[in-house]
Amino acid sequence: MNKPSVRPACPDFSSGPCAKRPGWTPGALKDATVGRSHRSKPGKSKLKEVIDRTRKVLGIPEAYMIGIVPASDTGAVEMALWSLLGPRGVDMLTWESFGEGWVSDVQKQLKLSDVRVLKAPYGELPDLSKTDPARDVVFTWNGTTSGVKVPNGDWISDARQGLTICDATSAVFAMDLPWRKLDVVTWSWQKVMGGEGAHGMLVLSPRAVERLQSHVPAWPMPKIFRLTQGGKLIEGIFKGETINTPSMLCVEDAIDGLKWGEEIGGLHALIVASGAAPR
Ligand SMILES: Cc1ncc(COP(=O)(O)O)c(C=O)c1O
Repeated sequence: MNKPSVRPACPDFSSGPCAKRPGWTPGALKDATVGRSHRSKPGKSKLKEVIDRTRKVLGIPEAYMIGIVPASDTGAVEMALWSLLGPRGVDMLTWESFGEGWVSDVQKQLKLSDVRVLKAPYGELPDLSKTDPARDVVFTWNGTTSGVKVPNGDWISDARQGLTICDATSAVFAMDLPWRKLDVVTWSWQKVMGGEGAHGMLVLSPRAVERLQSHVPAWPMPKIFRLTQGGKLIEGIFKGETINTPSMLCVEDAIDGLKWGEEIGGLHALIVASGAAPR
């Protein structure tokens, strides 16, 4: 076998933390609002800036809520599973280790009774046409450890009654996601944008918000997972009022990455730069 002749500019391979943007230095963080409350006016406006720039770069519909939550992508996914699952049967799609982890959450921790697992071996995808629009569906857009991704959202019905819950952590910014097919989307900053690990992003469709406000989970909800209070969405979470204390250095770094994405031309340029599309 011949060694590949084209080498990446940065030899540090990882699915996250990923390489920083070209030219990044710690100086990119000089305007961070450190040493003061994240609930101060400047602190909150930095957090809101991440949300606003994210919506713009990714083209997330106005009706969708975007929140910054604790515990990276895992925190965002588990918050969604614990908050939303229960009222309907659920189809769990798995074809590599992260999808498998969410199956284990749903079967062994939440112990839901009506669970169908649609599983494929490494390198393959399960039969997406077997998913049922009357049921919730949990899946990973890009199975990071196998490199197998769903091809598009055509298999998701526009008339679905269930929710689609999508772990898109290694897909977002590298692939164009069909937002209207997705009810919950999660990711973390250290993936495609080369940000810092710590916080998760949680995007909710209007139907996901409706479920949150109409369904009370059958299990106790720790504060760190709570998205509602008295049956109402805690809207502040989606305006930069985080549940607990975020790192403002990580926030500044996320802003730096998003600004760079805008400068190079937005989502399509990022998809090309990430290597997920032909140059
Ligand atoms: C598909 C997928 N889900 C979840 C995770 C966990 O992400 P985090 O460390 O941000 O919680 C990863 C990390 O590589 C991933 O690739």
